[in-house]
This record gives sequence, C-alpha cells and structure tokens, in this order.
Amino acid sequence: MPKAPPAHSRTGPETIDVGQFDRMPYLTILTYPRPNLKQAKSRIGQLAELGIDRVTFEGRTKIGRLGLVGIGTVGLVVKGTGRGDEVYALKIRRADANRESMAEEFRLTQLANRVRVGAPVYGCTKDVISMRYVKGIELEDYVKAAKGRGSVRRVREMAHAILNQCRKLDLIGLDHGQLSNLRKHVIIDGETPYIIDFESASQNRTTKNVTTAAQFLFIGSSVAPRIKRILSIKSSDVILGALKRYKGEMSDENYVRLLATFGVIT
Ligand SMILES: Nc1ncnc2c1ncn2[C@@H]1O[C@H](COP(=O)(O)OP(=O)(O)O)[C@@H](O)[C@H]1O
Ligand SMILES: [Mg+2]
Repeated sequence: MPKAPPAHSRTGPETIDVGQFDRMPYLTILTYPRPNLKQAKSRIGQLAELGIDRVTFEGRTKIGRLGLVGIGTVGLVVKGTGRGDEVYALKIRRADANRESMAEEFRLTQLANRVRVGAPVYGCTKDVISMRYVKGIELEDYVKAAKGRGSVRRVREMAHAILNQCRKLDLIGLDHGQLSNLRKHVIIDGETPYIIDFESASQNRTTKNVTTAAQFLFIGSSVAPRIKRILSIKSSDVILGALKRYKGEMSDENYVRLLATFGVIT
C-alpha cells in the first residue's frame, strides 16, 4: 500500500468532521482572520444546525496549506456535505466583516432565487449561509474557450442568459451592486451562468443590473473586445445609446431593443 505523504507536505483536499473545525489549522479559517475558540464553538453549532457534517478544504485559494473555494471581504467559502450527496458552499462570515450577521445577504439572495437567479440558498445562521456549490468557470475563460463551430452561438446565448437574469433582478427591484466586476460574480456551470454574492445587494436603489452587466460584456472589460469581435459588434456608440434609452425607461420594449443592438437577438 502506498504510504500517505507526511502531513506537512500535504496540499491536496482535506476533509474533516465539523466537530474538528476548532482545531489548528482549521480554526484559522472558521474564525478568520483571528483564531477564536469561543466563536469557533458557536460556529460549529451553527454548521450542525445547517445540517453540515463534514467540511472539505479544497480549491485554488489557499490559507496556509488549506484550500478554499474562495475568499472575499465578507466571507470565506468552503465546501461542506451533510447526510445526502449534495455539496454545499458554506459562506462563513469574516470576523472583520462590516456587518454583524449574514441574515440580510441571505434574505436578498432568497429574493433573487425566487426569480431563479443566484446559487440557491438553503439555510442561514448568524455567521453562515449554506448554498449550492456551483462548479464552474469564469466568464473570461468561457469566452476564450469558445472557438470554432458554434462559438458565436455559445457566446451570444451566454450574454443573453446573463442579461436575462439581470433583467429579472431589475424587474423585482433588486440591485446586485457589484456587477461592474462580472468576472468575480458570475460562475458558469456548463452553459448556465450563476450570479453570485448578493452581499452588496439592495432593494433601495435604482436597479442597474442590466446596464452594468452590459457595460462589462460589451464596453469596459478585458473580455469586451473579444465578445464584440465574436458577435460582430462594430460601434460602442450605438450600444451606449441603447443603454441610455433603457436607463431612461426600463420597459420590455427598450430591453428587447437593447438585446437587438447587442446582436444577442435577431
Ligand atoms: N455558491 C458558490 N459556489 C461556488 N463558489 C462560490 C459560491 N459562492 C462563492 N463562491 C466563491 O467564493 C468567492 C467568495 O465569495 P463571495 O460571495 O464573493 O464573498 P464576499 O461577499 O466576501 O465577496 C467567490 O468569488 C467565488 O469564487
Ligand atoms: Mg465577492
């Protein structure tokens, strides 16, 4: 039988029972950025409440030797499993986050879920949101991978799908707030885009989901030139004009005109 590598050289996935989360080095993640045993006990209880039995440290983001799904300014995201087969993404509040609880983000994500936008959320405690783990790639990689036959269709349909989700958010009055960086806030699983991270979302602002996402897709991002080339969009002026019209009146008619300007519908 092959010998297991010594612990200090291990960099592969590691799975622990939730009850072990207060041990080092796992504790550094559970109560990031500072180890805090009391807080850890509470959070282990919260994970149990959410039905999580095990946590797996795996992913490109590293803290020490441990891999994570991701890290932001509000939370660290790790994989978890419970009784069934489903893999959960667990967003654990950073102790230095600018909020006391995950409740509002959970509520706003639920609103998005109601119109089938966002990674489905399952449960929430003060410090943890459990949601579906979306296995996928970034938009830029998706667009770069679109080569040869069918690439125009794939990019067109992806842009259309993302904009339709943004349109649904506009219609329910939920502004995501961070779509100017779509790169970090869309994960594409197969052909399905998921808008993630509603931590900056609000129901008390003019919604700018469609216009902000369109700016990213067709005007001001590192992927925009490639998308424009693939969809044969020649001028940015026409796009800006259509965006301005939509901004002025977010009607179905203006939305459809916008899509036509992008060559997303014909
Ligand atoms: N449901 C999910 N499935 C897969 N990866 C996710 C999921 N939610 C978040 N992530 C990853 O974790 C990172 C941090 O999550 P995010 O919600 O953006 O945290 P923050 O609010 O702190 O910015 C994301 O950039 C993404 O890579
Ligand atoms: Mg984020």
